[in-house]
Formats: sequence, C-alpha cells, structure tokens
Amino acid sequence: MKTINLKEIMRPHLQGLAPYSSARDDFQGQAQVYLDANENPFDTGFNRYPDPHQHEIKERLSEIKSVSTENIFLGNGSDEAIDLLLRAFCEPGKDSIVILPPTYGMYKVSAKINNIEVKEVLLDENFDVDVDTILMAITPRTKLIFLCSPNNPTGNSLSPARIRNILDKFNGLVIVDEAYIDFIDGESLTSLLGEYQNLVVLQTLSKAWGMASLRLGMCLAHKEIIGLLNKIKPPYNISGPNQQQAKFAIDHSDQFMERVKAIKSQREWLTGKLQSLPMVERVFPSEANFLLVKTKNANAIYQYLTEQGIIVRNRSKEPGCENCLRITVGTKNENELLIKKLSDYERT
Ligand SMILES: Cc1ncc(COP(=O)(O)O)c(C=O)c1O
Repeated sequence: MKTINLKEIMRPHLQGLAPYSSARDDFQGQAQVYLDANENPFDTGFNRYPDPHQHEIKERLSEIKSVSTENIFLGNGSDEAIDLLLRAFCEPGKDSIVILPPTYGMYKVSAKINNIEVKEVLLDENFDVDVDTILMAITPRTKLIFLCSPNNPTGNSLSPARIRNILDKFNGLVIVDEAYIDFIDGESLTSLLGEYQNLVVLQTLSKAWGMASLRLGMCLAHKEIIGLLNKIKPPYNISGPNQQQAKFAIDHSDQFMERVKAIKSQREWLTGKLQSLPMVERVFPSEANFLLVKTKNANAIYQYLTEQGIIVRNRSKEPGCENCLRITVGTKNENELLIKKLSDYERT
C-alpha cells in the first residue's frame, strides 16, 4: 500500500483537537429514559437527536460499496465533505489545491471561502488528465488534487491509469469525485482504496439515487482520514429524517437502479436526436446523466429554451466549452419536448 504521513499533511493545530463529545457519543444503546441531551420529552417524531455517526446507513452502504464502515464518512451532501477536506488539510493563506477545469464549481468556491489558493490545470483536448502539467503545478504546499470522474460538465470518465499515476507521484490527497459513478459501465476507484492511503473517493445519493433534496454525500477513504473528518464535522450533520429516508432508499435500491437504466437509455436516445439537429455541432460522449452539447450559438439557444420554459445550463464561459450547453437527461416526455422545441427553433 502507498502510505502517507497524515500528520505531515493535515493542519497542525488539528492534531491535538479534542472533538465535541455529544450526549449520544457518551451513551449508545437503548435506555428507558433519556435525560442527557436537553431534548424536549414530548414526542413530535423529531424531538430526539439523530445518531451522530449514522451507524445504520454506514452498515448498509458498506455492503453495497464493499467498503468497511470505518472507511465511510457521511456529509450533508458531498459539498460538506469537500469543505471539510479543505478545512482538515489546507492552512488558509498558505496551502494550495489543484483543480482541473472545466469541472465542478464547488472545489474552487469552497477553497476560496477557506482562503486557500487554487491552481488550475486545464483538462487536455479530450477532457482527460494532463499528468505532467499537474505534476509541474504542485508545490510542497499543495495538499489536495480534485479530480472529477465522470467529469461535470464534460460527462467523460478520466483515465484510471492517469489517476493512478498521480496517486503514485503525489504525496498529498487525490480526491476523485464520483458523483455520477452509478451511470457508468465501468468500475469505481474504491477498488484502489486498499492500495493508496492518499486516495479519497466522493460519492452521493443526489444523482443516480434521486435523493438530491436529502443532502447525503459519502467520502470513502483510509480510516485515519475518515477519523479526522469525524473529528471536525458538526456533531449531528445528518438529520434524523435524512437518515430515515436514506435507509429507505438503500433498502429499495432495485427501484432506483431501474431508473438509472431508464436514464442511460434516454441518454443514448437524446444523443442521437441532438446530433441530428443542424444547430448542434457536437454531442460529447457522456457516462453521466447529462450531455455537453456544442452548438452554433449557445447564448441564443439558451435564451430561447428559457422562454419556452426549459432550463438547461449554459457552460459557454468554461474553458474548452465555448458555445456549449449542459443538458440533464430528463424523463422520456421531457426529452421529447426538448427535442421538439429545438426542432421548432431550427424552423424559425
Ligand atoms: C461532480 C459533483 N460533485 C458533487 C456534487 C454535489 O453533490 P451533493 O448533492 O452530494 O452535495 C455535484 C452536484 O452537481 C457534482 O456535479
């Protein structure tokens, strides 16, 4: 296993931190009377604090993901995990991260909020990782490299061999955001967790599982990294209703996976239809639940679709995405309406 000295890369002041110990940390199990947490004794269905460590969800996820519970951290969306990773490892005003535009916007925003320098290394012409340029960009103060696979907004998966190369050569953490992993035909990089202590994989219930409103993100990593995140998280970061619904979703995974199949088949249908429209120059191959579409005039098409009540994402300002719209794959009816409106636009 490639090991790293976590003490060397974490923020020094966190080493001796005694985390907040909640009432539910001090006592676990069943009691007759709970007078320990200053809760309201009258039953509203929500009057008790939830499990701060979300044991039941982690046990279920552990089976599905083939990752031990001690390697799972749950955040209020993966956005919380992104923020906590930055706060655990990057010293404001001193440390830096590397991101690979065009990519998910929160890595940069979260880093900026935490006053952490962001080094941008563009993805190559195939929207894949440019390993040499990344290695040139890192300095001894670079703590985290954020990779997104499949990448938002381009839709392609990054080459696993190139990711391995970075894992081998970089002694900070390589965070692979797999928010869209359940839409790909290949495998998650969680299979490499046993080989690399510096690998962190992010996943979420927001996409394939259809649970964006719940806010439940997973961070899968070496137990020392998970321990550090647990130390600095707000004690009850996953609400009780969130935990209940997440358990329900995981217990009914068949239904959710059927929907993933439907979305993947709609992705293929939509790709074909979009490609046949003269206003479309290119539909980039996607392994996610959205398509990056290069058009002749993204601003005008975006404006027209908005007027028609169809909202897509204009990504034209992102590097390498000139005149590109990012279109989420909807239901059959939604996709048909989109194509109809775009065909009408062609005729006007
Ligand atoms: C790549 C990527 N990561 C993370 C997220 C946020 O996920 P969550 O809803 O779990 O915070 C998104 C949301 O669009 C995303 O595209």
